[in-house]
Amino acid sequence: MNVGISKTNNSVGAAADAAEIAVKTTALTKKYRRGDGEFAALSNVDLTIKRGEFVAIMGASGSGKSTLLHLIAGLTRPTSGSVEVEGKRIFDCGDRELTIFRRRRLGVVFQNYNLIPHLTAEENILFPLRADGRDVAPTLEKMRELWTELEILQQLRQYPDSLSGGQQQRVALARGLCADPAVLLADEPTGNLDWTSGQNVCRVLNKLNREEGRTIALVTHEPAVAVWARRVVVLRDGEIAADLPTSEFADASALASRYQEIVRRESANV
Ligand SMILES: Nc1ncnc2c1ncn2[C@@H]1O[C@H](COP(=O)(O)OP(=O)(O)OP(=O)(O)O)[C@@H](O)[C@H]1O
Ligand SMILES: [Mg+2]
Repeated sequence: MNVGISKTNNSVGAAADAAEIAVKTTALTKKYRRGDGEFAALSNVDLTIKRGEFVAIMGASGSGKSTLLHLIAGLTRPTSGSVEVEGKRIFDCGDRELTIFRRRRLGVVFQNYNLIPHLTAEENILFPLRADGRDVAPTLEKMRELWTELEILQQLRQYPDSLSGGQQQRVALARGLCADPAVLLADEPTGNLDWTSGQNVCRVLNKLNREEGRTIALVTHEPAVAVWARRVVVLRDGEIAADLPTSEFADASALASRYQEIVRRESANV
């Protein structure tokens, strides 16, 4: 018997709960045409990420991780279902409103970086602020601290094609963070980094989450990266196969074995 007072039983409580939610997907589905039929890259995904959470999204290649991130970022429209970011149903907006919302409230780091080739690293990083007509000066000092932590200070004047994959990846992360986004959506931000640089990036993200309360959803294949998050969501064939707090795991190898078990168990069901 529940004798507690349910916060959601009144509209004030419901509003308070809603204010704690950064991202909410409801029955989110994305289908693509394949041959004569349709193929669901994502099926009925219900996922809630609270403000200040740090969530890792794991799953095999093709399981729908990037599709989910792109839908949350409003970069592609769902076949059905909805996405709310900071209380806003983003697909109810027109394209222009959505672009402005994304620029101001979301930081997106793409799996393939998407740097603009004719801009230097620094111009790429500052692009979202300038595109929004904002002055870069007030935040430049803070950004320099971040750029130092990401070890890209020496590369700021270089063009993307003269940067290594790992350097491009860190520039893309700096760009994702430059507009001080409420929610950072990062697709494999350590995918091209060696162990030390990858762990360094995790340390930076952890600090942003712990000290600034920044909400982070990060896609990764690597348990050693996912273990930095507070929660791990595992996708399998476009569905959520598991949603686990990382506090359950003593270390990255404990998470790795559980992850393999989930993936294997699910494969056995196919
Ligand atoms: N634009 C598209 N048109 C058709 N199919 C697509 C499209 N984008 C993704 N898919 C398919 O949807 C599925 C999920 O793709 P997605 O890129 O989300 O996977 P992922 O989990 O990010 O994989 P990876 O770890 O390799 O990056 C894949 O089977 C992919 O081929
Ligand atoms: Mg992907």
